[in-house]
Amino acid sequence: MERLLISGGVQLRGRIRVAGAKNSSLAIIAAAALAPDRSIIENVPRCRDVLTLLEILRALGVRAALQDNGRLELDSREVSGHVAPYGLCRQMRASIYTAGMLLARLGRAEVPLPGGCVIGSRPVDFHIRGFETLGAHVVTEHGYLKAHARRLVPATFYVPRSSVGTTINLMLAASRTPGITVLQNAAREPEVVDTAVFLSLMGARVRGAGTSTITVEGARDLHGATYAIIPDRIEAGTYLIAAAATHGDVLIEDLIPEHITAPLTKLADAGVTVDSDPTGVRVRVEGALRPIDVDTAPYPGFATDLHPQCAAMLATVPGRSAIRETIFEKRFGYVDELRRMGADIRVEGDTATITGVPYLTGAPVEAVDIRAGAAMVVAALQARGETQITNVENLDRGYEALEDKLRSLGAQVQRIAT
Ligand code: EPU
Repeated sequence: MERLLISGGVQLRGRIRVAGAKNSSLAIIAAAALAPDRSIIENVPRCRDVLTLLEILRALGVRAALQDNGRLELDSREVSGHVAPYGLCRQMRASIYTAGMLLARLGRAEVPLPGGCVIGSRPVDFHIRGFETLGAHVVTEHGYLKAHARRLVPATFYVPRSSVGTTINLMLAASRTPGITVLQNAAREPEVVDTAVFLSLMGARVRGAGTSTITVEGARDLHGATYAIIPDRIEAGTYLIAAAATHGDVLIEDLIPEHITAPLTKLADAGVTVDSDPTGVRVRVEGALRPIDVDTAPYPGFATDLHPQCAAMLATVPGRSAIRETIFEKRFGYVDELRRMGADIRVEGDTATITGVPYLTGAPVEAVDIRAGAAMVVAALQARGETQITNVENLDRGYEALEDKLRSLGAQVQRIAT
């Protein structure tokens, strides 16, 4: 058990690079295991969810070596088991990607119903319906999703609600299923596109990723590939919001600016100066900030994964702001923690109304999930006094080298064992 101690009141200044996208990495690592071959994946973040997925794959017979520079060597010539380990899968949502991979590779999969952030009910019914549409027999019993198919068949599947995980899982399964599978109402997130590019490099033909109709022409003889993961737009957004909240000046290098157009537009609406070009994005605050209204939405809308951080920033912006959450009904777990620091936030239905207070005060708070933890960091950086954040494991699930990056921007942060 570890805690972060943050002394607030320092304006973040400087430049950093973000890691490769966690949510792309999780999908692409699972995709690589579709082929009885070796793959090299670069720019993989060393965050806990990635390490957990690698442990899950090792338990299934895959060999994986992640180097400090983010280069992952994956050898999936042998996948010896079809039952994913319960304890590890319970720790993260993306463990469900092993179901699509195992079903397509071995014709059967037993994968524990996934855990992950407590931000809503997060069922896997769409994934199950998709696998069934591809001809699998699926049951859930004893806490496991159990699926088998002598042979998957290509099909057309309408993703019931724009779902990143369902779109990716079905792309994985369809990539090793000869014939043409069509995914309608597919998610358009950059991580979906990244996975589609990787699957194409492995020998599947994936077209339309980034639009709501994806066509996958699968092949039995997929092979390994070498690929570099895109930069993490949510990690980048977190640092940009932290920079704005502390009235600082931060440049994020190596980011694909169009991946965070919606958050940058909202920051600009709030009075933040945003300069973006293909080499990076710089935000700085020169005057007072203004309240804003934000609705989260699937990409290219405002990412739900930046909602809590944005709320933490708005907590000290004079006037009344509102954030409407349209993806996860329980994303408001951060609110009680921010209130401990003096924030004035009222939640009614799907909307948090935030009335800016003059300042926050440091307090003991908890990182209740990955992005709620990030909100605590944003709040702590601008608060008066010291904040202790417990349950740091949640932050480590999604953020690589968090303290190092914050310190390089001037923040006063230390990690201590409890
Ligand atoms: N949904 C269902 N049934 C399903 C699948 C999804 O009802 O079978 C619902 C969800 O409950 C939610 C909506 O559909 O209301 C969209 O969920 P989606 O499937 O898109 O989410 P996910 O794939 O489980 C990924 C990210 C999340 C991110 C969401 C939305 C990964 C590993 N996780 O989750 O990231 O919030 O997409 O963009 O890619 C995070 O990184 O902190 C994180 C939570």
